Amino acid sequence: MQFAKWTEVAQASVTREILKITQQPGVISFAGGVPAPELFPVEELTRAFAEALTDAQSSLQYTVTEGLPALRESVAGLMTERGVNCSADDIALIHGSQQGLDLVARLFLEPNDLVLVEETTYHGAVLAFNPHGVRFLAVRMDDQGMDVEHLRELLQQERPKLIYCTPTFQNPTSVSLSRPRRQVLAQLAAEFEVPVIEDDPYFGLQYDGEPQPVVKSFDQEDQVIYVGSFSKILAPGLRLGWVVARPDLVSKLNIAQMGSTLHVGTLLQHAVQAYLQTGGLPGHIKTLCDAYRPRRDAMLSALESVMSEVGRWSRPDGGFFVWVRLLEGFSSSRLLEAALAEKVAFVPGDAFYAAGGARDNCLRLSFSTPNVKEIEEGFTRLRHGLTQIKGTRIR
Ligand SMILES: Cc1ncc(COP(=O)(O)O)c(C=O)c1O
Repeated sequence: MQFAKWTEVAQASVTREILKITQQPGVISFAGGVPAPELFPVEELTRAFAEALTDAQSSLQYTVTEGLPALRESVAGLMTERGVNCSADDIALIHGSQQGLDLVARLFLEPNDLVLVEETTYHGAVLAFNPHGVRFLAVRMDDQGMDVEHLRELLQQERPKLIYCTPTFQNPTSVSLSRPRRQVLAQLAAEFEVPVIEDDPYFGLQYDGEPQPVVKSFDQEDQVIYVGSFSKILAPGLRLGWVVARPDLVSKLNIAQMGSTLHVGTLLQHAVQAYLQTGGLPGHIKTLCDAYRPRRDAMLSALESVMSEVGRWSRPDGGFFVWVRLLEGFSSSRLLEAALAEKVAFVPGDAFYAAGGARDNCLRLSFSTPNVKEIEEGFTRLRHGLTQIKGTRIR
């Protein structure tokens, strides 16, 4: 068997490997980046699927790749709330944002192309881009997200094909790009004519402060390809997301979709449209925020009492993660070993550096699935794990 060359560099995601460990009984996991299953709106979705099946002859049939106009109009309505004026024609339906990354990559990337990514970035995007044999270059980040002046320098020196960015509650750091930088990012994309993928699955999961307008809302020249998802705000098992882009790109994306899966499931489209028509989504997102906020707070206070001598971390306004940077002399892989021995899991930070530069000193802790009690218990165990490694300073 002769596999394609890119498979030689393909690695199973570290996150997935750790997630296997978290399946073991008694493990408290801060590793996953998945929504809390007890918060899924099961009754509402049951009703929506039942309603979709009342018109079974259409909802169980193939449909056109573009998908249901009514659903695309509802998504355009969601985008208006995010500051983007668009219509159903600007929207392509996809199987979750992950597929959006795959399809956009197919439209743009060729072997040896350069993709600019944030210093830490979503590993799934790397998996989607890798089959095209691309190179990655990292743009520096700080507590306001991507450093757009560094981006400008890189754009002056290099000719990247794409910029990939997760501006809202980034996976893994939960850092959000400041409003002025969002504007500059859109301007730079226009000036240098480099498309930006704005991957935005955490939009809406905002526990404090006001939401920032999405980068796409500053996009005068149509260089931003916005990728949205129902995974985090409704349920990832639906596998439904959307792309907002200019109509010619949407049309090419639909051709790529045709070659991939023909279209997003018809029943799913009818059901999600039925759900959206009830007007329940904003209330559901508020319920999610009210449930995740205390988990975030519990994690922040547990960090304060357990890890203040070994690390520093951000205080996220939303999303699923706290990003911890260990102080000099402490190692995240060593801490992971000690944590796993105590039946606590997290993801070491190295997994999120696509363009190198990883040091063994960061961790991504997720507060989305454990409840407040479990978070507290997890940190009690971590405290014990820490006493095992303190002083050993393995690096
Ligand atoms: C930044 C980012 N992009 C994309 C995805 C994939 O999400 P979806 O379920 O919409 O495919 C995730 C999932 O965790 C993510 O964190």
